[in-house]
Amino acid sequence: MTDTDYQAVLEEVAADIAPRIGQGRPAGYIPALADVDPRRFGMALADVDGQVYGVGDWGEPFSTQSITKVFTLALALAHGGHNLWQHVGREPSGNPFNSLVQLEYENGIPRNPFINAGALVVTDRLLGMTGDARGALLEFLRAESGNEAVDFAPHVAESEAAHGERNAALAYFMASCGNMLNPVPAVLDHYFWQCSIEMSCGDLALAGRFLARHGLRADGSRLLSSSEAKQVNAIMLTCGTYDAAGNFAYRVGLPGKSGIGGGIIAVLPGYATLCVWSPGLDEHGNSVAGVAALDRFTTLTGLSVF
Ligand code: DON
Repeated sequence: MTDTDYQAVLEEVAADIAPRIGQGRPAGYIPALADVDPRRFGMALADVDGQVYGVGDWGEPFSTQSITKVFTLALALAHGGHNLWQHVGREPSGNPFNSLVQLEYENGIPRNPFINAGALVVTDRLLGMTGDARGALLEFLRAESGNEAVDFAPHVAESEAAHGERNAALAYFMASCGNMLNPVPAVLDHYFWQCSIEMSCGDLALAGRFLARHGLRADGSRLLSSSEAKQVNAIMLTCGTYDAAGNFAYRVGLPGKSGIGGGIIAVLPGYATLCVWSPGLDEHGNSVAGVAALDRFTTLTGLSVF
């Protein structure tokens, strides 16, 4: 453990990065996300014992989007999906999260589970293993956050579906390569609902605690072996922030996963899970103030994996 005063550090981080809040632009390609006030900022830390610290809008639910990709991967592995790695890789893509071009060169095997193509494969396998991928995800997130109010946002899911041509293209291409086990419309439906889940920074920091607890859930039962938890953290570090993962690792020094709702979760294995939210995104789709806040946190505390 550390004797760091987490609450005081979060307050110092928020004050230091205040000029960055409002920079960047909220995601515009899904109308349901475009209207969020870019000046919102929240940050929370849940330590391994479940104590939560927060600053700013840390209790305000926002659209989790691609942060859910971490949880579906963990659930697919927990349900025994170890041959997943024959159908999705573990290398950074160096391409935008919704890119089509690499997938054709690489015969329908996505680079990693955190770009859209890879997440569609994971959701497909989780659907096969559970019969209800989005339901399994929601149940897990409610249990780990201790918040039964965590829920889907139907208007976001509908908006994703209405503007989901690229995801459909990725999924049908993978189906043509034999890398979809379920009908594509069913996989897309589960994926769009998965992306629509709304949670606060506090909820997400608690829900991601198993990654800081080497695979142990909130109730002490084991979701992942400590080796699997290490593997998920490693893929977050190398692939969790799209084609900016190298710069994120350089600046922050923690495994992280971002979403285009402006949230980022980050893990300090053995200590804590953090979540930061501010909707203004940089050109890669990562929250400008969020990355700055995590950078400041590790710089002030010296708490990183390096
Ligand atoms: O698939 C989409 O376009 C969004 N629902 C999720 C995007 C996101 O957060 C970044 N994707 N990796």
